[in-house]
Amino acid sequence: MTIRNLDDLLAEGVSGRRVLVRADLNVPLDKQTGDITDDGRIRAVLPTLGALVQAGAKVVVCSHLGRPKGAPDPQFSLRPVAGRLGELLGAPVHFAEDTVGDSARSTVAELADGQVALLENLRFNKGETSKDDAERGAFADQLAAFGDAYVDDAFGAVHRKHASVHDVPARLPHVAGRLVLREVEVLSKLTGAPERPYVVVLGGSKVSDKLAVIEALLPTVDRLLIGGGMCFTFLKAQGHEVGTSLLEEEMVETCRNLMQRAPGKILLPVDVVAADAFAPDAAHDTVPADGIPSHRLGLDIGPETVAGFAAVLSQAKTIFWNGPMGVFEMAAFANGTRGVAEAITKADAFSVVGGGDSAAAVRALGLDESSFGHISTGGGASLEYLEGKTLPGIAALEN
Ligand code: 3PG
Ligand code: MG
Repeated sequence: MTIRNLDDLLAEGVSGRRVLVRADLNVPLDKQTGDITDDGRIRAVLPTLGALVQAGAKVVVCSHLGRPKGAPDPQFSLRPVAGRLGELLGAPVHFAEDTVGDSARSTVAELADGQVALLENLRFNKGETSKDDAERGAFADQLAAFGDAYVDDAFGAVHRKHASVHDVPARLPHVAGRLVLREVEVLSKLTGAPERPYVVVLGGSKVSDKLAVIEALLPTVDRLLIGGGMCFTFLKAQGHEVGTSLLEEEMVETCRNLMQRAPGKILLPVDVVAADAFAPDAAHDTVPADGIPSHRLGLDIGPETVAGFAAVLSQAKTIFWNGPMGVFEMAAFANGTRGVAEAITKADAFSVVGGGDSAAAVRALGLDESSFGHISTGGGASLEYLEGKTLPGIAALEN
């Protein structure tokens, strides 16, 4: 089944028509100031929004931000995002104070051709994330009333069976936006016949979050490099003590099985940066992975590990990376993530960075985004795509 895309919709003509765009504008905000700390996801939808504006559509954008619990919660307001989106588009974005209420209705009704409105956070409404089909459907009816056509450009949310992702496309003519199209094109190269060696680097804190993707990737990849908080559960499974490092005791046996299933394929750190506390100024040292002191916790992979991972990456032809190698937000524990990221950019390979955190790390560490083949806007979404799962947002576009 092929998916219609934005060009098909533009070819029909959208001038004067209301186009409802589901975007993923779930950007990180500074806890103190509320400022947007990484606007990558806003920039990623500009090609779709720009094309619709150019074509004279009345563009109604909707998104979630964070995980509010089905009711308005000011700390999750999209208002700052409307401001930033307006700056990037070079034209003001009309902001609705609610999602489907009076403010949204009048904001949409007053839109002129070529103008853009942003509705307030979808998740201020219980219907958006409800498990109940009727409750989601009722909310989808209200949203769908704002558009004559629907564009899904929220790749980061396509794995969610939510009203705006899964139920609205059943109610309106629907197409994939430019971002969703590009993401699917890129990720399908990895699930198809990737050029080899195909090396995957996984980090992040929990094995349990990544277990499904590890299971799915293990048979297809040539090497799986593991860092981040999750490496300690693997090190424990190898028989090492990990001090007070992050450990998922109940996953140790699973990790042991994974390593036995594919001997030599999974590479673990040989050294780690172990600290006295989870703090930017904590006392710390590089220690062998089998010599973590009992009172210390590992917060990064060590330099010997970075060198080993870099050597494997330098041979790769296809690379997928998800998850930081350490606590990169703290300068003392950022070298692992930086080193691996730099090795990926140097490799003569097609490289894909998957996920909110790794994409944010690339930008926070000041690395050149254009030296990666593709930086995905989807964390969970890109992992579930690689797992081969049916993604509700993509399936809805196929129908
Ligand atoms: C993300 O940040 O991964 C996406 O925006 C989806 O958000 P969610 O995990 O809260 O559904
Ligand atoms: Mg997420």
